[in-house]
Amino acid sequence: NEGALWGARFAGGPSPELQALSRSTHFDWVLAPYDIAGSHAHATALTAAGYLSADEAARMHAGLDRLLAAVTSGELVAQPSDEDVHGALEQALIAEVGAELGGKLRAGRSRNDQIATLVRLYLLDHAAVIAREVRALIDALVAQAEAHETAILPGRTHLQHAQPVLLAHHLQAHGWALTRDLERLRDWAVRARLSPYGGGALAGSTLGLDPALVARELGLAEPAQNSIDGTASRDVVAEFAFIAALIGIDLSRFAEEIILWNTREFSFVTLDDAYSTGSSIMPQKKNPDIAELARGKAGRLIGNVSGLLATLKALPLAYNRDLQEDKEPVFDSVATLEVVLPAFTGMVATLRFDTARMAELAPQGFSLATDVADWLVRAGVPFRDAHEISGALVRACESAGIGLEDASDALLTKVSPRLTPAVRDVLTIEGSVSSRDGIGGTAPVRVAEQRTALIASAQAA
Ligand code: ARG
Repeated sequence: NEGALWGARFAGGPSPELQALSRSTHFDWVLAPYDIAGSHAHATALTAAGYLSADEAARMHAGLDRLLAAVTSGELVAQPSDEDVHGALEQALIAEVGAELGGKLRAGRSRNDQIATLVRLYLLDHAAVIAREVRALIDALVAQAEAHETAILPGRTHLQHAQPVLLAHHLQAHGWALTRDLERLRDWAVRARLSPYGGGALAGSTLGLDPALVARELGLAEPAQNSIDGTASRDVVAEFAFIAALIGIDLSRFAEEIILWNTREFSFVTLDDAYSTGSSIMPQKKNPDIAELARGKAGRLIGNVSGLLATLKALPLAYNRDLQEDKEPVFDSVATLEVVLPAFTGMVATLRFDTARMAELAPQGFSLATDVADWLVRAGVPFRDAHEISGALVRACESAGIGLEDASDALLTKVSPRLTPAVRDVLTIEGSVSSRDGIGGTAPVRVAEQRTALIASAQAA
């Protein structure tokens, strides 16, 4: 088993079938820069403990620097005979600095503590990229809210017209969900910033190496407190995949609305040409593919976290090779979000809203019926009766085929003597939204306040 990390106790080399199953370089090669960073840190710990002379350390670090340059340039890639990124890089290091020095680096570490650390480093870096992209999307939502401060939308529950709301209020609602995702990434990072390096295969090292030194060198907060847990746990990976899935789900909910708003029937939005697609057969088509792909990829992100949880379920301590299955799903979650988020943000930033169309539809479906009931309450009618009266007015208007605002004085009195013509004061969508002026409500003053708070929360997260 020439060049492998193991083999002496075996009579022969591994079968080709085993090699084909075992090989992970086609997906773990993205960890190569992190593996090299880990090796630098480990070499520093070996030096501090007296296992490398100053000269050896200098040659080791220089060799590792050359490896990183070769990985970055694409000149160094894994060979078909390499089992994983760790073995491939040890081979390459030996080619750089010779077998004697290259062979010293593996002392006191195992691929088990290495891989558990590297995946954290990789995820922390990509979490920062994803957080930046989520922030950009929140910025786009805020900019659209600012550009449409007075636009009114038919607010819906059960997808039915419910009560008019400010478009800005609705857009900012998506901003709050995404802000919580940012907060989740931040909270997750506290747990992710621990270093399992030094845990060895599972039980720790006999060589007196300093795991705190390694953690520091890698920019991590501190070593994992328990070497078995450090090498065998993957909850940090699963939690990341969950947050990624939740971001996907939050995008998918907005995506679904954009798809609806973009239909001829709604006609609330027009997509920019640069963010929509055509049909190969129907020349007139302009499709919301970004929103549909975002919606579809949410399923894939859920699949990744489900798969990871299934891998972890009932897995005994400590390291088992099953854990190699953590990488492809979570790498896919990262790649998926990194391609979906920029496209989604571009689509949102360039959306054009037909605010006249929204305003026309906002009062339809008797969406001001609650305002009538609240007006009666302010006039001293118990809400239970007010609800009945307003409901009866809806029924009368519905059978007359008119809106609430079109009810004649006679019809109002016929429904209830409490309904005087003054009720018409609340039968406008502008009056309706302005009157919902409690904290969190849709009144313009409140929505502007919420926007300030949203911007601050997204920045702080
Ligand atoms: N490639 C493995 C993983 O991704 C790490 C190697 C550990 N291999 C081993 N036989 N202990 O988890």
